Amino acid sequence: MLKGKHIILGITGSIAAYKSAVLCRLLVGAGAEVRVVMTSLAKEFITPLTMATLSQHPILVDFFNPENGEWNSHVKLGEWADLYLIAPATANTMAKMATGVADNLLLTTYLSARCPVAVAPAMDLDMYAHVATQRNMESLRRDGVHIIEPGSGFLASGLQGKGRMAEPADIVKAVEELFSEKKKSLEGKHYLVTAGATIEAIDPVRFISNHSSGKMGYAVAEALAQRGARVTLISGRTALDCPKGVERVDVLSAEDMYNACCERFEESDGAVMCAAVADYTPATVADQKLKKGDGDMSIALKRTHDIAATLGQRKGNRLLVGFAMETENEQSNAEGKLKRKNFDFIVLNSLRREGAGFRGDTNVVTLIDAESREELPLMSKRDVAEHIVDKMEHLLK
Ligand code: CTP
Repeated sequence: MLKGKHIILGITGSIAAYKSAVLCRLLVGAGAEVRVVMTSLAKEFITPLTMATLSQHPILVDFFNPENGEWNSHVKLGEWADLYLIAPATANTMAKMATGVADNLLLTTYLSARCPVAVAPAMDLDMYAHVATQRNMESLRRDGVHIIEPGSGFLASGLQGKGRMAEPADIVKAVEELFSEKKKSLEGKHYLVTAGATIEAIDPVRFISNHSSGKMGYAVAEALAQRGARVTLISGRTALDCPKGVERVDVLSAEDMYNACCERFEESDGAVMCAAVADYTPATVADQKLKKGDGDMSIALKRTHDIAATLGQRKGNRLLVGFAMETENEQSNAEGKLKRKNFDFIVLNSLRREGAGFRGDTNVVTLIDAESREELPLMSKRDVAEHIVDKMEHLLK
């Protein structure tokens, strides 16, 4: 189950850090590749040498190596990982995670990680029971962090109660469950995801396009793939890397995207239409670069295919999810598209909302189906993608 999995093991300053050595050994023994990130205080409880030897890689503590200036990239590390496991997680670190404080490498890695995150809390019973700690853990849960419950028993303080970090073998079991849960839910399904902007050529040099970055569609593709679905990402031009485990088909124009979707829709279980497709394309594409004249010029445009509407007509019992980006009459426009294109649900984002729209990493959306509407708060596009996939799974049931 853990063979070949990339796991970041984060260690914070708790006496339970001595158990992290055994945990690391068990993870490596199960076939995982482990990289260890420690806080400065954690080094007082367990030596870097121990952890480096067990994980077979140098441990990471600082943003850079002061000897040679080599940068420890938390972004790369976050991208590399299939799981970020913080064990032990102190009350202090969980409080910082809950509020987005990023004052050490372990925390910046948390903010950069695109993978699931699990924490195994360790602290004294009163600290654990304190309303502030409980509030922070609840907030982490809401952010999608998996909490591996501490056990009850003898604590380093001499007291007895809840707060002891879960035993390494139990943490490994929890990690295995996490991977299998994520894996199973959409295994055997195949979804198309359209993403990014289309490019409509005017001549060999110019084109008509839009501001879409593709981030939302790529996040949906990644979320589906992480739950075990086969994903074909039909992508207009973007600067993004293809998410792990996703098959990407690169297209340029709306016509190319239409053909790529139509070819594959039949054999799929559905599609999520995130792309910003041009509704019009130049009626003719000039063979040579257009030369300017003295006066104004106009370009004749013709309609493109509405890809989503075409798939909507052919959908049968497949799932079809659409997006609507609106600047006015948001709700009624989105509801119109929901019906017209035969979507199971539509994701409305209003350009009027702060934090929503093109290029950014966050979005504010409302999920609308024939019976209900669910307004989501401002969140990362990756979290929006999780909500979309949750709703798809809900409809499948
Ligand atoms: N869409 C599509 N093909 C098109 C246009 C849109 O597949 N030619 C899809 C988008 O990917 C999105 C949904 O249809 O999921 C709605 O796109 P949007 O651009 O908001 O709507 P339009 O149909 O273009 O309507 P309007 O221009 O009136 O807003």
